[in-house]
Amino acid sequence: MTDTQAYDFNDRMLSLGLARVSEAAALASARLIGHGDEKAADQAAVDAMRTQLNKLDIAGVVVIGEGERDEAPMLYIGEEVGSGQGPAVDIALDPLEGTTLTAKDMPNALAVIAMGPRGSMLHAPDVYMEKLAIGPGYPEGIVTLDMPPAERVRTLARAKGGDPDDITVCILERPRHEALIAEVRTTGAAIRLITDGDVAGVMHCAEAQRTGIDMYMGSGGAPEGVLAAAALKCMGGQIFGQLLFRNDDERARAARAGITDLNRVYARDDMVRADVIFAATGVTDGSLLPGIRREVGWLTAETLLMRSKTGSVRRMTYRTPAK
Ligand code: FBP
Repeated sequence: MTDTQAYDFNDRMLSLGLARVSEAAALASARLIGHGDEKAADQAAVDAMRTQLNKLDIAGVVVIGEGERDEAPMLYIGEEVGSGQGPAVDIALDPLEGTTLTAKDMPNALAVIAMGPRGSMLHAPDVYMEKLAIGPGYPEGIVTLDMPPAERVRTLARAKGGDPDDITVCILERPRHEALIAEVRTTGAAIRLITDGDVAGVMHCAEAQRTGIDMYMGSGGAPEGVLAAAALKCMGGQIFGQLLFRNDDERARAARAGITDLNRVYARDDMVRADVIFAATGVTDGSLLPGIRREVGWLTAETLLMRSKTGSVRRMTYRTPAK
């Protein structure tokens, strides 16, 4: 038995440490909100997240990170993090989900991180993923990626006990989604178009009463798909994802990540195979979380901290002197 096998994945104890990690990333990027510099905001979040992560007593490996080793100096896929004295864990992170949202001071930028036992999370390559998500309370598989988008809306509306015009679908505003948007509009459903940030987009489905969003559809980053799956595993809800490949280089990325079936549709629990913990801290104000509040001399952050084992969702407010 190795040292790391001697430790249990004590999600209860580790969760507070995880909240500190996402708080640190969000707070570090706060001074760059609205400053038009995406790279600087991202770098500040990455540095802070890594520093905090390395204080945790874990033997962590980044499985969803800032990119492959040759393209990301820090928090790259495969990087070992933590003190090494603790359980062997997989980590999925996005220190700043919504770099452009932050640079332009637009809603719903988050710092996000998920942690589970080693082997718990899909090693998704950095390619696009077709996504479909709904919140909790619906029969498993009631909507699928195989269904045309309009049928998904009508099916969900029936299950909700209403009509399609009682449904709001969240979609990334991209030229590639024009046909999808046009088809959803034929049903009478409302569409909340977002310019970035589909982890938050998916998470909105899990708190439909708070956010007004029932369903998420469209393509976005595959790494963000795994993070969103981790969030829904804690909050409840369904997500399906299918990797999309534009060229051989992307197929090679999948092969390097150990993926053999390129057409597979992943359900939530295929992407996140064991109980995980998840933390998200608001960077800019959003419908899920308020952003960092700056008062003279003080910074305040709000974090959503969740454990899938218990389904517990904590909202934590942290106030600290501004340095
Ligand atoms: P960044 O924070 O890295 O800028 O990503 C934001 C994001 O909107 C993700 O939420 C989403 O999955 C992806 O970019 C969509 O990619 P694209 O901008 O290429 O459509």
